[in-house]
Amino acid sequence: MKKREFLKKVAVLSTGVTILPSCGVSPSDENQKTDDKNKGADLDKEVKRIRTAHIGVGGMGAEDLKAISSHEFVDVVAICDVDFIASMAAQKLHPKAQVYSDYREMFKIMGNEIDAVIVSTPDHTHAPASMMAMGLDKAVYCQKPLTHHVSEARAMQKLAKEKNLVTQMGIQVHSFYDYKLATLLIQDGIIGKVKTVRAWSPKNWGYDGQEPEGKDKTPDTLIWNLWLGTAPERPFKKKFYHPGNWRKLMDYGCGTLGDMGVHIFDTPYNALQLDVPKTIVNNCREPNGFGFPEKNEVTYEFPGTKYTTENLTWIWTDGEGVPASHEDLKLPGDEVLHDQGAMFIGEKGRLYLPHFQLMPKLIVDGKYQEMDISKFKLEEPVRDYEAEAPKHYHQFIDACLGKDKCTAPFSYASRLTETILLGVIAGRFPNQKLHWDSATAKFKETEANQFLDSKYRVF
Ligand SMILES: NC(=O)c1ccc[n+]([C@@H]2O[C@H](COP(=O)([O-])OP(=O)(O)OC[C@H]3O[C@@H](n4cnc5c(N)ncnc54)[C@H](O)[C@@H]3O)[C@@H](O)[C@H]2O)c1
Repeated sequence: MKKREFLKKVAVLSTGVTILPSCGVSPSDENQKTDDKNKGADLDKEVKRIRTAHIGVGGMGAEDLKAISSHEFVDVVAICDVDFIASMAAQKLHPKAQVYSDYREMFKIMGNEIDAVIVSTPDHTHAPASMMAMGLDKAVYCQKPLTHHVSEARAMQKLAKEKNLVTQMGIQVHSFYDYKLATLLIQDGIIGKVKTVRAWSPKNWGYDGQEPEGKDKTPDTLIWNLWLGTAPERPFKKKFYHPGNWRKLMDYGCGTLGDMGVHIFDTPYNALQLDVPKTIVNNCREPNGFGFPEKNEVTYEFPGTKYTTENLTWIWTDGEGVPASHEDLKLPGDEVLHDQGAMFIGEKGRLYLPHFQLMPKLIVDGKYQEMDISKFKLEEPVRDYEAEAPKHYHQFIDACLGKDKCTAPFSYASRLTETILLGVIAGRFPNQKLHWDSATAKFKETEANQFLDSKYRVF
């Protein structure tokens, strides 16, 4: 089924369900209109608690559930997972919540009892579940990357804007001290205009092997058809798809770039106020139609912004042994580079941002330099994940209550995700420079356009 048809279905579902007027709606991003302030204030009076529904509660979904439900004004009312092991574990923690295995059924039955939806499924289900939630006027917290396809990212952004919904992408480090500090330092001009950014991760969420033959018995606890959802029909094979390994495969995930890249790209993307790139080239192996390449080097060229030189070059590398040594990545005294991170290379020096929860460092003429950070009004650093991670989630709930604004709304997340996905598509055309036209949302190389969208299976 094409995305358009799916949206039509969402609209039909919406008309058959009673929707709470403007529940979960409040100021969410820079696109908001001024009269939203009043809407937020009304909401504060009307809605004292936010009723959440969680789609996908195993793996990261369990973390999301924990962080969201730690907000004092949250009631978890619905839990949905296609694997009963995950949903039963979640229900133990929230015994009052109703349990579902099909999010469509959950919305049909409980559409008028939910204010906000948390989507923590594999990537290919982010858009189908979030679009349905937004079609019913729900606020949505969706895991990263926002979507599996560029067309979906654009559709999510459009719908969220049209309906003026509170939205947030699950890039929790966006709200962490070191990333906020790096953003302020770059925007303050500490290294002058930025020419190049390098970002790297040695993780390998690729698979160079062949598609497995045959099929294994589906575990009794798993509803495979619902796990596949809108993705093409495929027999179940142990260890290939569920849980977690779907990331390596084209039909469900977005490889290492879509996994770690979103987190590591986020700060430079935000700090430099980038839009989508003009050109993309991925230096990787030939596509095999099943798994992503195990090693990628993606070079993006972005149009300049007020924080960059006329153009900005961005080089992402992933896979075992990455990054190879490069002059831009040399640290003072031959210090060993952190295994994951980003380096901003500017006209007056470099800013090194190891991933994660580590202080950004200024390097000038091959030496670390002191930085005066006293002028930035930041809270003290909290270098404890458990303490810091909930901030991003609580910001979302506070935004639902009309008391805060989300800093990674879909208006932002969709552009960042589009950028990431363009690099993923470039992996299907190794070493070929692709030219992206943001205005028409098309590549100049027409053969690449088929990967911007995908058919939805009816399930
Ligand atoms: N922000 C972060 O730091 C972070 C970390 C890890 C994962 N993630 C993101 O979280 C998402 C999930 O990743 P994961 O590692 O937890 O994967 P996973 O495979 O371990 O878990 C996914 C869960 O979703 C369930 N699920 C699958 N399809 C479903 C459907 N149609 N309806 C309801 N439940 C469904 C699965 O049964 C499982 O419980 C991904 O988008 C991933 O990128 C984010």
